[in-house]
Amino acid sequence: MVRIGYIIGSTAEGSLNQKLARLLVDQAPERAEMVHIPIRHLPLYHRDMDDDFPQVMADYKAQVAEVDGLLLVSPEHNQSFPAAVKNALDILTRPQGKNIIGGLPLGIAGASPGRFGTINGQSQLRQFLPPLGVKLMGSPVLAVHAAKETFTDDGADEQTTRRAASYMEAFTEFVAGHR
Ligand code: FNR
Repeated sequence: MVRIGYIIGSTAEGSLNQKLARLLVDQAPERAEMVHIPIRHLPLYHRDMDDDFPQVMADYKAQVAEVDGLLLVSPEHNQSFPAAVKNALDILTRPQGKNIIGGLPLGIAGASPGRFGTINGQSQLRQFLPPLGVKLMGSPVLAVHAAKETFTDDGADEQTTRRAASYMEAFTEFVAGHR
């Protein structure tokens, strides 16, 4: 079994990225155990917290420390990824010297109602994450465009469902290969 944690970058009502995450969980191969890691409750990190690291942040880090790989399912905000996602990733690298994402296999996926399906936000994640030591999966890319027309009450259209299944197959293989 491979344990894959997933972070959803949106808690908005009817979130497209929550729908995408649900699809990815549904389409994950049987050997992948999918674990949701919530981030909504996390306070905004600042360095004064290092001396007395908040328990909620320590607990969240402990959850991430228990997974073999981490999947970010995130919207795009103003051509980038949401501040909540940056905060959640920053916390994983703090207190100073306590970065727990070095060597962690990481995948990125996202959905947007627009034409480019979070591709700009994904590019920015791809820029700053590798220097932190994560093992980032390069391909396939999963950026779901026109997502309002894609998701249904119980899943997604056929093409997106197929893409989600092959993404999860590839990511599970990637995580297994880097453990
Ligand atoms: C957006 N949205 C958006 N979409 C996009 O494709 N490119 C962008 O740059 C932005 N910018 C942006 C900024 C802010 C502050 C918000 C709130 C929204 C639209 C966004 O893709 C849309 O709201 C999605 O539905 C967000 O995903 P969730 O929350 O439904 O998962």
